[in-house]
Amino acid sequence: MTDRYAVIGHPVAHSKSPRIHTAFARETGEDLVYDLLPAPLDGFDAVVRTFRAAGGRGLNVTVPFKLAAFALANEVTDRAREAGAVNTLRFDGAHALGDNTDGAGLVGDIRRRLGIELAGKSVLLLGAGGAARGVVGPLLQERPAALLIVNRTVAKAHALARQFEARGPVRAGAYADLTGRAFDVVINATSASLSGDALPLPAGLYAPGALAYDMVYGDVPTPFLAAARAGGAATVADGLGMLVAQAAESFLLWRGVWPDTRPVIEALRP
Ligand code: ATR
Repeated sequence: MTDRYAVIGHPVAHSKSPRIHTAFARETGEDLVYDLLPAPLDGFDAVVRTFRAAGGRGLNVTVPFKLAAFALANEVTDRAREAGAVNTLRFDGAHALGDNTDGAGLVGDIRRRLGIELAGKSVLLLGAGGAARGVVGPLLQERPAALLIVNRTVAKAHALARQFEARGPVRAGAYADLTGRAFDVVINATSASLSGDALPLPAGLYAPGALAYDMVYGDVPTPFLAAARAGGAATVADGLGMLVAQAAESFLLWRGVWPDTRPVIEALRP
């Protein structure tokens, strides 16, 4: 019987995951089907139960169910525990493993596709919400020289930095602290791009050769990336690469095979 996978969310109709995983399966010759799995806000557990009973082998989990998925898993990986959220479930009989592939997707996209090493670099992470929390551990694992977390609500940046202080050189600050400082890598993990807001970033933020990375993607450059380009960032990248790379990490967890992300990103670009 062909193995079944799906992305579960509310809403989920516009998810690119079925296209991504179907392309991975074709590329690697894996025999699977991948569907959209809409669930009502109060119906996550019931929909997952039905999916498993029908032979479902794994799920990608999106808004707003990443905490419900964490609670449902019998076992979670270290990176999911650190992120405080599960975006991938793997079912082996009665056992449900919860993982989080977002941070590995970001780091993998920067290293493999963009060819940029984070080791020894000064890295600035903007935001301290769920998206930021999911990437701090994987970023520190790359051994940057320093990781500064800046957030509008500064106390949240401090709390996040404290959570990871044993793992590497991580500090917290405010947007006002950025004046006069330059970074090799600047990552936008705020949701400001979604509402079209610009962030209060000073001139001179980008060191020579710097990368600006927005975890959000869209048909046109986000306000953050437009400002980065104008502000001298050498490389700018949006979150489409991260989206495909986190999917590749899920695919690897499920199938034990690593798919090439590049042709899939190209196919998805408008
Ligand atoms: P997500 O899961 O996308 O991270 P979240 O947990 O609600 O969503 O976090 C949103 C992040 O974007 C927060 O860091 C938020 O800053 P605050 O903690 O101060 O709210 C940040 N953010 C959203 N809109 C912003 C804006 N216009 N300017 C600066 N930061 C913004």
